Amino acid sequence: KILILDFGSQVAQLIARRVREAHVYCELHPYDASIEFIREFKPTGIILSGGPNSVYDADTYHADPKLFELGVPVLGICYGMQWMAQALGGKVEPGTVREFGYAEVRTLGHAALFAGIQDKVDPQGGNLLDVWMSHGDKVTALPAGFSVIGESTACPIAAIADDARKIYGVQFHPEVTHTKQGKAILSQFVLSICKAQPSWTMPNYIEEAVQKIREQVGAEEVILGLSGGVDSSVAAALIHRAIGNQLTCVFVDHGLLRLNEAEHVMQTFAANLGVKVIHVDASAEFLHHLQGISDPEQKRKIIGREFVEVFQREAKKLPQAKWLAQGTIYPDVIESAGSKTKKAHTIKSHHNVGGLPESLHLKLLEPLRELFKDEVRELGVALGLPPEMVYRHPFPGPGLGVRILGEVRREHADLLRRADHIFIEELRNTKDTDGKSWYDKTSQAFAVFLPVKSVGVMGDGRTYEYVVALRAVVTSDFMTAHWAELPYELLGRVSNRIINEVRGINRVVYDVSGKPPATIEWE
Ligand code: XMP
Repeated sequence: KILILDFGSQVAQLIARRVREAHVYCELHPYDASIEFIREFKPTGIILSGGPNSVYDADTYHADPKLFELGVPVLGICYGMQWMAQALGGKVEPGTVREFGYAEVRTLGHAALFAGIQDKVDPQGGNLLDVWMSHGDKVTALPAGFSVIGESTACPIAAIADDARKIYGVQFHPEVTHTKQGKAILSQFVLSICKAQPSWTMPNYIEEAVQKIREQVGAEEVILGLSGGVDSSVAAALIHRAIGNQLTCVFVDHGLLRLNEAEHVMQTFAANLGVKVIHVDASAEFLHHLQGISDPEQKRKIIGREFVEVFQREAKKLPQAKWLAQGTIYPDVIESAGSKTKKAHTIKSHHNVGGLPESLHLKLLEPLRELFKDEVRELGVALGLPPEMVYRHPFPGPGLGVRILGEVRREHADLLRRADHIFIEELRNTKDTDGKSWYDKTSQAFAVFLPVKSVGVMGDGRTYEYVVALRAVVTSDFMTAHWAELPYELLGRVSNRIINEVRGINRVVYDVSGKPPATIEWE
């Protein structure tokens, strides 16, 4: 396994993703991990990430230089390379200009890191690589034993190597997709140089995870809040594989789910997989508490609070349960470790099934803690969950509660569910020229209910009915998003169908706002 030390990079997670894509297990840890921890970890290789600092800042980040004495291959990226060069006796200086964006690096010599990797062949010898740079400082003198293995116009020492000790540094960022051969370079480092085994695959992982859950839980019982979302679904399927009937899932239906969702969840888990699922129809209770409330934050808080209350009530009926299982995934783990130092405004108070309180006095079982989202999906498929469920767009914990603007009423939820279903059905059934469906080409799509009425005409009659807005976005991280450029024809068809099939709606509009300044959900 590979150890990645994070010097505060925005994109350290991407390094981990690329390594996992090479089917090698890796973990991300803070730059100041102790040498004892690193020894204990027994890495087959170490990657030092980039970071925002400058090596000669007084309070800059230093890893323990003893890591170079472990006899393990090391790759430093950007700040990681600069820190490494300095720690090993080289020199780093501030550059006269910041280099940001595309650059062309010419490889020099025969360093193992770049063997067989090229974008273009350089007529003057060597290979050319299209890379992404983002740095101010640069290495200006090499530590003993190193040679330059890559240069660019702005950065004469763009990559360095000590092939004998297997220590490498690149000034550019191989983890971002803008560096075309970045994935190949990282994969060369972990597979050819570190000689890590490419055995990290989800079908292989099932057996290991199952063993671990059995050891952890023993003969005790586990409860899990099943939402129908990807993470809790895959966690449920995995735990069920490990301990069968020792698992009980509680599925709280707050009345704000998508069309037929409760039936699908019950069908998939209870009927097909044989998982014990308690279906709690709490819609009346949720709607009762939401009556007369139109403030978005208040609505979110009520839904979150009610959810916890209903879940706790159900949990009390299972006194033998000693464990609470949650679908926490690796990005959640990294984020909550990082968020201790970061301060952000609360734009929306989030509610999700993962956020159940400690007052339940249950031990936590989080079998997906080590996995990225794409791995969770692969695992789900390997466990036999339907791909449509596993590759579904995300759905917020408060459900339609944040998609029905203003007061949440059952009639409005019913109208919205049908409109949303038509939109999603058309997205799934309409393919772009590349053969991919528009559902797969968008990251999230849904309908929003607007509690305003407008005038229309149907047949010979006047109508005065509600409006539905369609929202579809493309994003890689949900932090920023573009509205999806759906074909007019598709939008037209969706609009026609909604107005014709959903009595009570006579107007459909399309949301063309990006995030920022808008958010993805309307509330
Ligand atoms: P926004 O609207 O903030 O949404 O741009 C970003 C992503 O987060 C989802 N979202 C939630 N997910 N609980 C969740 O589990 C919530 O309370 C919640 N609110 C928003 C939203 O659907 C989008 O994918």
